[in-house]
Formats: sequence, C-alpha cells, structure tokens
Amino acid sequence: MPDLMEPLFCGEPELGHLYNTLRRVFREADISTPDLDARLLVTETLDVTTTQLIANPRLVIEDESIAELERRARERLAGRSIGRILGRRAFWSLDLRVTDDTLEPRPETETVVELALAALYPPDEAVTVADLGVGTGAILLSILSERPAAFGVGVDISFKALVEARRNAERHNLDQRARFIQANFGAALGRQFDLVVSNPPYIASAEVETLDRTVRDFDPRLALDGGEDGLNAYRTVFAQAEAMLKPGGALIVEIAPLARDDVIAEAALQGLEPLAVADDLNGDPRAVSLRRMVV
Ligand SMILES: C[S@@+](CC[C@H](N)C(=O)[O-])C[C@H]1O[C@@H](n2cnc3c(N)ncnc32)[C@H](O)[C@@H]1O
Repeated sequence: MPDLMEPLFCGEPELGHLYNTLRRVFREADISTPDLDARLLVTETLDVTTTQLIANPRLVIEDESIAELERRARERLAGRSIGRILGRRAFWSLDLRVTDDTLEPRPETETVVELALAALYPPDEAVTVADLGVGTGAILLSILSERPAAFGVGVDISFKALVEARRNAERHNLDQRARFIQANFGAALGRQFDLVVSNPPYIASAEVETLDRTVRDFDPRLALDGGEDGLNAYRTVFAQAEAMLKPGGALIVEIAPLARDDVIAEAALQGLEPLAVADDLNGDPRAVSLRRMVV
C-alpha cells in the first residue's frame, strides 16, 4: 500500500510521469485493474485522449488538474469504483449516470438485454416491456434504444433510483417511451406486458459482508441483498408473473451462476419454464428466459 500521508504525485508535472506514477500506486494498492483504472482517471480528469497519453508524455499539466487527479485517485484507493468517481458508466451502447443511489451497471447484465432483444423480434413491433428493479435504467433503456416502437415501464422501490433512471431516459431521448413507478417489483403494474425483465438483488444476506469493498461499501444494500438464500426477490417476481405477463410473454431474469438450478426450480413452482439461458463473457450462466407453461 502506498504511503497515503505523502502526496501521490511529486517530480515533473508531465502527463507521462503522472500516468506512470498512478499505475504504480494502483498496483502497489492491489487494485484489480491498475493500468486500466489509471488510464481512465488520467484521460477523463486531464481531458486527454489515450493517443495523447502515448504520443505526448511530456505535456505539462496545470497544478489544479493535478490536484483533482490526486483527489480522484485517493477516492479509488478508498474503494470507490472508477464509474462512481466519474459519475457515469458505459452499458450496452449507452452512457449512463451513476450515483450513490444506484447500482453501477455491470457488463454481465448485458446478457439480459441480449435475451430480451431475441424475444422482441421483429424489431419494429409496438411491444411493451417492464423492468423490475430498474436502477439506472440500464436494461430498460438499452432495450428501448434497440426497439424504436417499444414502450417501457421501469419499477424500483427506491425513489432516488427512479429519479436517476428518468434522467438517463431523458439523456438518451427515450423519456417519451418510458414511465417510472415506485413499487414492490410488479405489484402496481396494473396491466400485462409482452416482456418483463429483472436484475433483482440476489446476494444471500450473509454473503454481502464478504463482497469486495468496492461493491459492499458503495453499491446500495437494497440492490444487493436477496435475503437469507438470495432468492427472495425471485419468489416475489415469479408469484407476480401470471398477472403481469401477456399470454406467450416472456420473463427474463439475471441470476448468479451458481443459483441457476435453484432459480429455475422456484420458477417452476409458479408455472414458469425455462426457454433459454445466456452465458456471460466468463462462460457462466447469467440470464434465464422463462415462459408460462402451457398445460
Ligand atoms: C441489482 S439492482 C439492478 C439495477 C439495474 N436494473 C441494473 O441491472 O443495473 C436491483 C434493483 O432492484 C431494486 N429493488 C430492490 N428491492 C426492490 C423491490 N422490492 N421492488 C422493486 N425494486 C426493488 C433496487 O433498488 C435496485 O435498483
């Protein structure tokens, strides 16, 4: 761990020196992706491109910018993710605002979007989509961005998360096709949808404390904790499925890879059968598409 009582940067106020110092500091602090994090912080804070970073290492940086880089670097050393420090995160094709009230969207959640787009085909139909536990709006807004005639409802128990989801919808000109409501998952939808998606909280309560501090201390607890066995939210959502799905409609949920069989078993108790399972980039099962069983 670097000595945090000392300034992080000393010596030449040059771009290349600052970048190399930050890489070293992050490596010494055992940050999992030190070079990437250093590059993102340097390029975003100093407003330089990656090409400039390589081609112009002698560029002299103003003291004020160095002070801001140091402030942000210390936040990273304290466990905040780069997305939270910068206040935004790329997901699918969207740049989303992230705040302390929203889960930072994860790349593996794009598997839910992939299954959703496969379910909503052909692309130009006027379908309806509900996203239960919408957070930043990552899943819902990605779907709406790819399906120009679709209409969506985002639900969250957290009012502050809904404010951010709406802002993200406005930011991407999707707010005319999206509504946001505060409710316990699908309890207040009041109509049936062609597609329901959800990335619910699914970490078992006792496991939350064992998570990496970047997640444990900074993602909202409400977005993580799935109760004693991590399955509480699925039970609620599956019990609501009949009321909220049109005949033939699909329900797509994100899962923890090890919970696949348990989630599918809970779904079967409510008359839902699996149609497809999507793997994330690690090859782990990450999203399940379900449909009401035809009897
Ligand atoms: C894992 S986060 C998913 C956020 C976003 N959909 C994503 O994939 O990045 C779960 C979300 O569910 C919300 N949530 C938790 N309990 C809920 C409930 N009972 N009803 C509705 N939303 C809930 C949390 O506030 C959080 O925004």
